[in-house]
Amino acid sequence: MRFSSILSATGLARLVVAGPVQVVERQAQKLRIMPLGDSITEITCWRGMVWDQLARAGLASQVQYVGSQNSNPQDCRPSTADWDQHHEGHSGWLAIDIANNYLTNRLKTTPADIVMFMLGTNDVFRGRRTSDIIAAYSTMVSLMRAANPKMKIIVDLVIPASFNNNAIQALNARIPEWARSLNSTESPIVIADCYTDFSTSDLRNGVHPSLSGDRLIASRVGPLLLGYVRKALGQ
Ligand SMILES: *[C@@H]1O[C@H](CO)[C@@H](O)[C@H](O)[C@H]1NC(C)=O
Repeated sequence: MRFSSILSATGLARLVVAGPVQVVERQAQKLRIMPLGDSITEITCWRGMVWDQLARAGLASQVQYVGSQNSNPQDCRPSTADWDQHHEGHSGWLAIDIANNYLTNRLKTTPADIVMFMLGTNDVFRGRRTSDIIAAYSTMVSLMRAANPKMKIIVDLVIPASFNNNAIQALNARIPEWARSLNSTESPIVIADCYTDFSTSDLRNGVHPSLSGDRLIASRVGPLLLGYVRKALGQ
């Protein structure tokens, strides 16, 4: 049991007891992390690899992945057998559609403290303009902050594809300045560089990461996520 004395309005010292009730409440409220994206979030193994990083850091019991999906389509076998398979990855979905038609309700049904997203590949494949994709990113950040003013955000530079890669490069080139322009202390945006060093041999079918690609994504996203988690937990 911990005691601290607080000076009350009357100037008298009051004894405040931090009892078991508060401890229980803190344990019940896990930090909620939403992996948001398309098939590169849904049918891939990097989510499990990032969970391993959380587990190795001793943080797994204090966090959860959230989202409407609870699946492991690639039958990934990370070291942590009971890794949390919740996510908000939707094969084929466009950033533009998630921003305009989906995210508001989703953040109501599965609220989050941290959102990490990679989006834009399908927009690029469907010929959407870079400026429209960036506008969708801005809409998503607005919706995230409307749902939670302290939302912590990780945006990924999009992995390369074996076709239309010029458009992916054009999108990635815009992300740093875009993120800086919307950054804030209360709701920071950090960039996970999932593009640099990612070669076409890290793709299993021209679009989706192979095991080595998953490892690269996890190595870029994980440390940023752990940074947010440690800070939120005061560690
Ligand atoms: C946003 O601000 C944080 C500090 O609050 C910083 O660590 C981060 O790099 C900034 N993000 C960008 C994209 O500049």
